[in-house]
Amino acid sequence: MTEAVDRTSPEKLLTPVLSAFWDEDESWTLDVYRAHGGYRGLAKALAMPPDDVIAYVKESGLRGRGGAGFPTGMKWQFIPQGDDKPHYLVVNADESEPGTCKDIPLLLANPHSLVEGIVIACHAIRSNHAFIYLRGEVVPVLRRLHAAVAEAYAAGYLGKGALGDGGDLDITVHAGAGAYICGEETALLDSLEGRRGQPRLRPPFPAVAGLYACPTVVNNVESIASVPAIMDRGKEWFRSMGSEKSPGFTLYSLSGHVARPGQYEAPLGITLRELLQLGGGCGRGTGSSSGRRAGPRPPCSPRSTSTSPSTTRASWAPGRCWAPRRSSASTKRRAWCGP
Ligand SMILES: Cc1cc2nc3c(=O)[nH]c(=O)nc-3n(C[C@H](O)[C@H](O)[C@H](O)COP(=O)(O)O)c2cc1C
Repeated sequence: MTEAVDRTSPEKLLTPVLSAFWDEDESWTLDVYRAHGGYRGLAKALAMPPDDVIAYVKESGLRGRGGAGFPTGMKWQFIPQGDDKPHYLVVNADESEPGTCKDIPLLLANPHSLVEGIVIACHAIRSNHAFIYLRGEVVPVLRRLHAAVAEAYAAGYLGKGALGDGGDLDITVHAGAGAYICGEETALLDSLEGRRGQPRLRPPFPAVAGLYACPTVVNNVESIASVPAIMDRGKEWFRSMGSEKSPGFTLYSLSGHVARPGQYEAPLGITLRELLQLGGGCGRGTGSSSGRRAGPRPPCSPRSTSTSPSTTRASWAPGRCWAPRRSSASTKRRAWCGP
């Protein structure tokens, strides 16, 4: 088992990658993203054959951040090739699970990590059209996504000849009407097609008959946004964090009676106890803080399990969750600072 978590001090548990520059002015712009190495991973990916990109992501061990923890590269591999059908990538930005609040801050502060990840994923699965299904209530995020996509078109990362084989790539940003069930991937597809969002019977799975009955990958925002860093810094770097089965970093949301609530980016495998330490601990007499990873209706963990490592499938006690204010970064806390 890889054990690269440095437990010598709380700060060393943090691995800011997606949140590395959230506190910079206009962190959501293309210029700031590129100043921090943005779109370098894309250049590497476009120079590789699509199947090699899939294999690389598979070997990185990245698992879906939408809740089920399905290996991302494997999901991409399920898309049939040479079938003469359009392939689609659909990014699940519905994030309506109570207490889950990491995709929205990520999209507000660093939307280009998603746009870059989308281009890489579309190159890999040979798709010329991606959709971002965003929960419609979050209008500031919708605006920011539209702006980031427009910047990417203007810079040539999207549009005519954007892909490695000279193919075109378009992104459609879709604002959903807001229903919890539309976070479920097949209900989301129905909603995207203009119908009432209701889960579909499976099989067929989306990889075979998804959006408009064509092969479709549905991935969570954070899953796709993590791909550029993997391509840029390497799969070994990614695997040096977390555990063997759940490598890498992820965004944790801390809320409730904790001294410093907010978003914390740390390796998988961190324990709830360590996470609460990062947040400055619980207030005296309050035991109701919650630490949260994404996922529908996750199991509640009793307090006695607070020393268990987190995995992509685990969540801790659910609860209210929001990252309310800019922090003084005394512990290099990465908090979402609203629009
Ligand atoms: C009721 C329900 C709600 C869900 N809500 C979300 C959601 O808001 N965001 C999300 O990414 N996945 C959600 N999922 C999981 C998705 O169905 C799907 O597994 C996920 O988007 C796949 O992405 P990943 O492989 O990158 O994790 C939900 C699942 C269920 C059953």
